[in-house]
Amino acid sequence: MSNSGGNVDTVMLEKRLFPPPAEFAAKAKIGSLEEYQKLYELAAVDPVAFWDGLAKTELHWFEPYTKTLEWNPPFAKWFVGGKTNASYNCLDRHLDGPRRNKAAIIWEGEPGDQRTLTYQQLHREVCKFANVLKARGLAAGDVVSIYMPMTPELVIAMLACARIGAVHSVIFAGFSAEAIAERNNDAQARMVITSDGLWRRGKLLPLKEAVDQALAKSPTVESVIVLRRVGNDVNMQAGRDYWWQEQMDEASADCPATPLDSEHSLYILYTSGSTGKPKGIRHTTAGYNLFVKKTFEWVFDYRDEDIFWCTADCGWVTGHSYVVYGPLSAGATVLMYEGALNFPAEDRTWDIIERYGVNVLYTAPTAIRACIKWGDAHVEKHDLSSLRLLGTVGEGINPEAWMWYHRVVGKERCPIVDTWWQTETGGIMMSPLPGAIPTKPGSCTKPLPGILPQVVDERGNEVDRHHGGWLTITHPWPGMLRGIWGDDERYAKTYWSRIPGKYLAGDNARLDDDGYFWIMGRIDDVINVSGHRLSTIEVESALVSHPNVAEAAAVGRPDDLKGQAIAVFVTLKNAEPDEALKQELKLHVRKEIGALAQPDDIHFTNALPKTRSGKIMRRLLRDVACGKESTGDTSTLEDYTVLARLRAEEE
Ligand code: WTA
Repeated sequence: MSNSGGNVDTVMLEKRLFPPPAEFAAKAKIGSLEEYQKLYELAAVDPVAFWDGLAKTELHWFEPYTKTLEWNPPFAKWFVGGKTNASYNCLDRHLDGPRRNKAAIIWEGEPGDQRTLTYQQLHREVCKFANVLKARGLAAGDVVSIYMPMTPELVIAMLACARIGAVHSVIFAGFSAEAIAERNNDAQARMVITSDGLWRRGKLLPLKEAVDQALAKSPTVESVIVLRRVGNDVNMQAGRDYWWQEQMDEASADCPATPLDSEHSLYILYTSGSTGKPKGIRHTTAGYNLFVKKTFEWVFDYRDEDIFWCTADCGWVTGHSYVVYGPLSAGATVLMYEGALNFPAEDRTWDIIERYGVNVLYTAPTAIRACIKWGDAHVEKHDLSSLRLLGTVGEGINPEAWMWYHRVVGKERCPIVDTWWQTETGGIMMSPLPGAIPTKPGSCTKPLPGILPQVVDERGNEVDRHHGGWLTITHPWPGMLRGIWGDDERYAKTYWSRIPGKYLAGDNARLDDDGYFWIMGRIDDVINVSGHRLSTIEVESALVSHPNVAEAAAVGRPDDLKGQAIAVFVTLKNAEPDEALKQELKLHVRKEIGALAQPDDIHFTNALPKTRSGKIMRRLLRDVACGKESTGDTSTLEDYTVLARLRAEEE
């Protein structure tokens, strides 16, 4: 054990503890801490045997595997030699029992249109579309870019690719033509699936136009399939572009799933690195499928009668794992919503929950903070009694935002699962099991069975409890990325070189006395004040606990005296920015977590720069804080005007 080196100091002490409600625990599949501990210990002693036992029963095998894990660090192969198919596991497996006529997807469009697809209907659509792909000459191993609105057809397209072994690369339908072209080229995509347009806050976004521009620079793309969604005029190039609906009319519904090697690539998903070009994270078939199915069942305490709503878009990994592959392979009913959560009004989320009787809500801290800002009245006018479980993902949740979620949405009755994971991990790595693990606001609590995390210093030694350090995973797991598309070297360097033999997540974390994990933000975001390394989330959470702060982002800027000074960017609720409030916020942080963490600069702003999936882009704020132009990749920035406005506010 060590407490030296590059550790991060913690200044936040959160003492509140919420045991699983007795009623919830009584019905839960894993209903006590002892049960969790037993399962965790069993898996930890021999993770390979643990996953082997699950894989045999949880997936359908066309051919059994001969070896559970082949580990040539940093390259892992799981269930070697087996043949399976993710589309088969998500669909065909449910067709010979009562789930056949169960709703797989209940969908609502932004304008309010609704559709429901049973497992049998979804299977039929997927088979037909798989035949459309084949008719265009696609086969196993070919890459298909998907740039679509959150419609059932997006899921159909993903599963149809999986069915024939084509590798999908979903590109968030809000990225620019430039970003599409870059991804098409990196992956050598042969096809793009898109739609005429999409609805966003009542406005039309012309998707096909962006694809047309991208194709001028995407020489590998041979054909385009276009779904009619909005009805706007689009340019269709003969011999290249085909209407989805016309192709489907002609397609047969008979398309057996292709038996695919366990390690066959299922998908690529691009995620932005802090600098340079985006990384194509590669996931494969069997291990990923098993991991998302089991983590879905464990974390959401899955019940057959549930309606599960994950608000994530399929343009990022949460949509892949917990809108599509996890819930569907578990036979769940997924609610899918196309549009913005505040359209036509700020109560759309709660309205949807009430109207469909949603039981489990899985969303992001950024959405929760927005709801807090919009006000409790939007929530309170709806009957949310169907909810039994709440979840968050994507960023750390500030304890006060957690408390609001717990009180105002969950009525102190629903456990909250704060799930830590990454595009690279494929599925949830750490999270409370809601019937078993008491929760603490702001902590993702404990690792899931089969996951072995360790917090280490720069030399790879485990740090003492309460000392922050680098979060690593010490044993391979089935859902882990298998590489960066076309760049093994970057894969090895990014994740496996700084701490040899361990997966480096790139996040800071610490353990408390109860063995709970606290994620402290990205490694690169640490602020070093007079030799004390502070985590961004702790300063931000102290700010968010002030009644007038809606959101906050903390970054370091160079300071001659202290090394770094703390600059914070704050959005307000129920208050006007002024000098007095600045002073008050400084003192508030000082009182909450200490003089060391007192911000030097406070910038008030209307909005923070965020990624499309809602993460605060601190790297860009660092540039603003030191008065620099940003140089890094901004292709994932949600609202380009935010940076310009922030700079203007500085002048
Ligand atoms: C952050 C999203 C704290 C973290 C599934 C991670 C979190 C990155 C949490 C991955 C959480 C995600 N608490 N931080 N519960 N969940 N993060 O690839 O920094 O979009 O490394 O995957 O988000 O983001 P990604």
